[in-house]
Amino acid sequence: MSISELMRSCISTANKWSSSRAEAVFGDDSPEARQIQRRFKINSAAEYIGVSRQAIEKAEKDGRLPPADYTDSGGAAPRPIRKGYTLSQIDSMRDYFNTQPHRPMDSEPVIVAIPGGKGGCYKTSTCANFSQWCSLRGYRVLVIDIDPQSHLSMYFGYHPELNTSIDDTVLPFMLGNKDDLSYCVRNTAWPKLDIIPSHLQMQRLERELPVADIPYQTHTMLQAGIATVASNYDIILIDGHPDLGMGTMNMICASDVTLIATSTEVNDINSTTQLMALIADIYDENSQLETTHEPVVRVLPTKLGGISSSSQANLRDLMAMWPGLPLANGIRVTDEIGKGQRRMASIYEQADEQRSSPAAWKRANDIFEATFTEILEDLIKPFWRG
Ligand SMILES: Nc1ncnc2c1ncn2[C@@H]1O[C@H](COP(=O)(O)OP(=O)(O)OP(=O)(O)O)[C@@H](O)[C@H]1O
Ligand SMILES: [Mg+2]
Repeated sequence: MSISELMRSCISTANKWSSSRAEAVFGDDSPEARQIQRRFKINSAAEYIGVSRQAIEKAEKDGRLPPADYTDSGGAAPRPIRKGYTLSQIDSMRDYFNTQPHRPMDSEPVIVAIPGGKGGCYKTSTCANFSQWCSLRGYRVLVIDIDPQSHLSMYFGYHPELNTSIDDTVLPFMLGNKDDLSYCVRNTAWPKLDIIPSHLQMQRLERELPVADIPYQTHTMLQAGIATVASNYDIILIDGHPDLGMGTMNMICASDVTLIATSTEVNDINSTTQLMALIADIYDENSQLETTHEPVVRVLPTKLGGISSSSQANLRDLMAMWPGLPLANGIRVTDEIGKGQRRMASIYEQADEQRSSPAAWKRANDIFEATFTEILEDLIKPFWRG
């Protein structure tokens, strides 16, 4: 077998592996087949809706809300037990109780870019999990994948070899061939969480954007595209590739908040200072690049280990070097993220029986809770307060 044949055969096997994993869990490998199996007990549904459990029970009893779903308890003496609520049911109840957390009508959606100069520093998993965490709370979210490796897209079932083409990405708009981005916005299994997927050919952006016939400067095309669909959302998240190229410049210029994912492993600092240098150059007063605003820039520490680990010592150094930039709550390492990817269900999608153990799930949940609360409360919501 020639090396070329060997490589093609490896690619084909990898694609079949991806496809068969999706088929095993969802029946087929299309994004539409994806379903979230998790149901929410009444207490946690009440918390996500922002009312008391009693308010839900009373509204169901009075017929103001549809009756709750019941299932059979099984066992020797089966009895009906509450089945729990789906995410769509929870969102409909928010409509009924008038507790949707949407941004004020006179405000703009907040655009958050999560670049990171080093591969594997948790950019994509932060983007995917934060988008779901926000959706769980009722926010209208758009995630935009511009990484040619398309891992964010795959969290939502969009796979560059199986069901997505380059025409389903931002590339046609960015090369001046479309008037708005509505052609590439896709649904996910999550209510009010949409995605613009990526594709392996997104790499063409780097070559073709500089010579494209486009109405705006090259580094602002993504910002122009987002403006065409932004009114539908509260929060827009952009996940990119670990480089300093066109895609990264576009995501920074489109953003209100740029969170530089920074691994707290040794030897990761240059990847972050390189991104800082890029940002400094873009917004320098002598820069030739036109921009509309400066983003808030923060550092998101990732890959944190235990209290006495080297990563914690590195974090202390980052905090001393760049006071005020690193978030107070970085992201710790948990194998539940990788296990969730194998199960095709993130920690927010997993039903009780899909979790490794209640304790492991809770630990992973706690890791993200602190970081995501800080991003929402301290970085996003201030934009809506004016
Ligand atoms: N909190 C976590 N704990 C442990 N592993 C994690 C965590 N978050 C992500 N991972 C794993 O680390 C790997 C890299 O994560 P991720 O894909 O988010 O990084 P990335 O910065 O987007 O990488 P790339 O530069 O390739 O785009 C993935 O295999 C993911 O499952
Ligand atoms: Mg990634």
